[in-house]
Amino acid sequence: MDLTNKIAIVTGGGQGIGKGICEILSKNGAIVIVTDINLDSAKLVSNKISSKNSNSTAYQLDVTKNIDTFSVTKEIFEQFGKIDILVNNAGIVAAPNWEEAQKLTEEDWDLTYQVNLRGLAKMTESTIRYMKDARYGKIINIASVAGRIGGTFHPPYSATKAGVINYTQSMSVILAKFNININTICPGHVWTELAHRTSMNQKIAEGEQHNSLRKVFENNVKTWVPLKREQQPRDIGYLAAFLASDYSKNITGQAINIDGGIYMN
Ligand SMILES: NC(=O)c1ccc[n+]([C@@H]2O[C@H](COP(=O)([O-])OP(=O)(O)OC[C@H]3O[C@@H](n4cnc5c(N)ncnc54)[C@H](O)[C@@H]3O)[C@@H](O)[C@H]2O)c1
Repeated sequence: MDLTNKIAIVTGGGQGIGKGICEILSKNGAIVIVTDINLDSAKLVSNKISSKNSNSTAYQLDVTKNIDTFSVTKEIFEQFGKIDILVNNAGIVAAPNWEEAQKLTEEDWDLTYQVNLRGLAKMTESTIRYMKDARYGKIINIASVAGRIGGTFHPPYSATKAGVINYTQSMSVILAKFNININTICPGHVWTELAHRTSMNQKIAEGEQHNSLRKVFENNVKTWVPLKREQQPRDIGYLAAFLASDYSKNITGQAINIDGGIYMN
């Protein structure tokens, strides 16, 4: 994939899947702007990729704050003269008691919505003003297979991820006339801090049946994934690079699973 000199912003790029996406975009030549609510982790990723691959820089950016999304995208545009690619990756599971929906608090619901859906839309709104003028842009939203079908996992998480899939569809129609492609990736099981935290909750819910969090995760992969292997952050990065490239210029409004075959739609 040739992303040489493309300017790519990744949210939540400081660790996990976001870090994997930054690395793969950068290996394909993009100049990656690693953003995260945690500046230190964003800097670590950005330093690593600029020493190995292409130029990179880090910004602190909380996707729930208009002031951040608006001013950081403005600064990036002023520095580079364009924004070609936006990967909306930042996402959270905001409650300890995911197994019992009635224990979810008002704050759990609000924060999950503010980060996973409204924050993603804020970043999109802040970036498309530059893409529209350029008549060019690639937006990649990270949802989840949890957004494909409801279940016990975490109702607000699943609902916001379903919202991301639907938001992407609406925006694809609105943005088509500006030559902006927008698509969603739905990852399955990726061993990150988020997966670690949700395995912890599951372990508590199951009354300590498993002796390690990694075992809970491995058990889920064995039970649910037809290909019987977990997904890696770089797997999400490979599809993000394709969707950011001109090889995918006729793909928009789609949601694509990377889950080892769990879901077929
Ligand atoms: N790990 C999985 O199995 C899995 C599966 C499906 C979907 N996802 C999705 O992939 C994305 C990345 O998840 P992950 O597993 O790498 O999680 P993670 O917790 O390892 O990383 C999330 C990153 O987002 C950052 N972040 C959190 N709140 C933020 C905010 N308000 N503004 C900006 N950055 C913020 C964190 O600092 C962190 O660097 C999320 O959208 C998640 O829902 C993950």
